[in-house]
Amino acid sequence: MSLPLVDGFGRTHRSLRLSVTDRCNFRCPYCMPAEHVVFQPRSEILSYEEFQKLVQVGVRLGIREVRITGGEPLVRRDLPRLVERLSDIPQIEDLSLTTNGFYLRELAVALRKAGLHRINVSLDTLRRDRFKELCGVDALDRVLRGIEAARNAGFFPIKVNAVLLRGINEDEAEELVDWARGLNLSFRFIELMPIGGGPVRGREHLVSGAEVKARIERRHRLIPDERCDPSSPARTFRFADGSGEVGFINPITEPFCAHCDRLRITADGKIRNCLFDQGELDLRGPLRAGASEAELEAVWRRAVGNKGVGGCVELERESDSGSGRRMWQIGG
Ligand code: 5AD
Ligand code: SF4
Repeated sequence: MSLPLVDGFGRTHRSLRLSVTDRCNFRCPYCMPAEHVVFQPRSEILSYEEFQKLVQVGVRLGIREVRITGGEPLVRRDLPRLVERLSDIPQIEDLSLTTNGFYLRELAVALRKAGLHRINVSLDTLRRDRFKELCGVDALDRVLRGIEAARNAGFFPIKVNAVLLRGINEDEAEELVDWARGLNLSFRFIELMPIGGGPVRGREHLVSGAEVKARIERRHRLIPDERCDPSSPARTFRFADGSGEVGFINPITEPFCAHCDRLRITADGKIRNCLFDQGELDLRGPLRAGASEAELEAVWRRAVGNKGVGGCVELERESDSGSGRRMWQIGG
């Protein structure tokens, strides 16, 4: 293996998020505009073979975890074929997918057979009307069945992620957690990041992880989970009465950049060193021009070399500039 990907702050990069499409069938308001979304032309989007080649470069540089994201990854045709290609790479220790759950009912078994290890499903509400209002699609039932299909296909643990929004779904923290516990699902609350392209971005909608935790603690005693991986952004807790766990991902109130080990590749083949950093380097051009492995490695190293101290510093700068890529174009 080549030398690992260590940045100027001593952080070694082992984890890669692949955004395989910028398209999505939902319109969550913290992520996408409700209308007039311009998607990238297909010719600019990497093929599965191209993603595989880039990941092969990554594993030589020490990448060990790959998460497939979007947009919504399952709107891309035959996604299990990409999973197959990636699960054939022996150095990958953890291969996971983040999805809105809509197509899981049809695809869970195929994804499992293709070698996917883990699934995260995004779900912000358990109320049908609210779901429809929030995501623009009357699909709560489908998503719930999708989660069930994933369990039946043998995925375990399944994580469910929610973003609580002030004045919109903040009242559902306890309900969501109790529901998840009943089904033996892990639950994660993610703080709203002002990076989406939709109408809900401002601080006025932020519900801090500490506040959500306090709400849950009115009903349940939580015990910090010592096995918690320091490079994982989630602070996890077990329920004192034994069953289930809940985690909080607090990028705004408790930035975790100091332990960040993540890189991202966008659907059009740009490498990014941080969700919040607009600087990105092109891999697709060199790849399609027949660049050598060493040339591609050099781009990865440059991206890592450019990595700043992280998230919230860049976040402040970026905040309302209105330019740059948005969440659905990067992958959460
Ligand atoms: N802030 C926080 N989380 C977000 N996600 C998408 N946009 C945002 C945002 N602006 C989450 C989704 C999903 C994951 C991919 O990222 O809810 O769980
Ligand atoms: Fe689609 Fe996910 Fe963005 Fe919601 S958060 S609009 S499901 S890409």
